[in-house]
Amino acid sequence: MSQRQILLKYIQFDHPNQLEGIDKELFLKATEAMASAYAPYSLFKVGAAVLLENGIIVQGSNQENMAYPSGLCAERVALFSAASQHPGAKVLAVAIAANPIGEHATVSPCGACRQVIMEYQLLFRYPIKVITGAINGTITIVNDVNVLLPLAFFDPGLQNG
Ligand code: THU
Repeated sequence: MSQRQILLKYIQFDHPNQLEGIDKELFLKATEAMASAYAPYSLFKVGAAVLLENGIIVQGSNQENMAYPSGLCAERVALFSAASQHPGAKVLAVAIAANPIGEHATVSPCGACRQVIMEYQLLFRYPIKVITGAINGTITIVNDVNVLLPLAFFDPGLQNG
């Protein structure tokens, strides 16, 4: 028996205007994508932007449905769009933006989205940066999806894909 610990490193900014370079650009693209959200049920608009190795940025937004589980989060819409429009292009980073209400409210991807980001990280064997936060509040950056999904499921079948 051994007891182990995991150290999770992440970076935080108080406001998106403190971001720089491509991180800032990607978060702004995610913010812009909020406008296309279809969220008549939750009224919570989320935007996402995926940066590919070829420099292309693919945007997405949450798309809800009257049969609630049929809807999809913004980051999965963006990632699946990127993968279908640019198959094989390595994913470098994903930004997620929303406007949560409340002083300490924040934005962070759900478990299913973490799993999907992890799939691309494993597929391309390259760490994916995730920039997530509020358009007027705290921004969190992780440089590797393992920080968001430690001890992740791994299907060895991926190696045959
Ligand atoms: N949502 C996202 O699009 N991304 C997240 O990271 C969190 C949640 C969406 C799903 C649903 O349409 C709405 O936000 C409320 O949960």
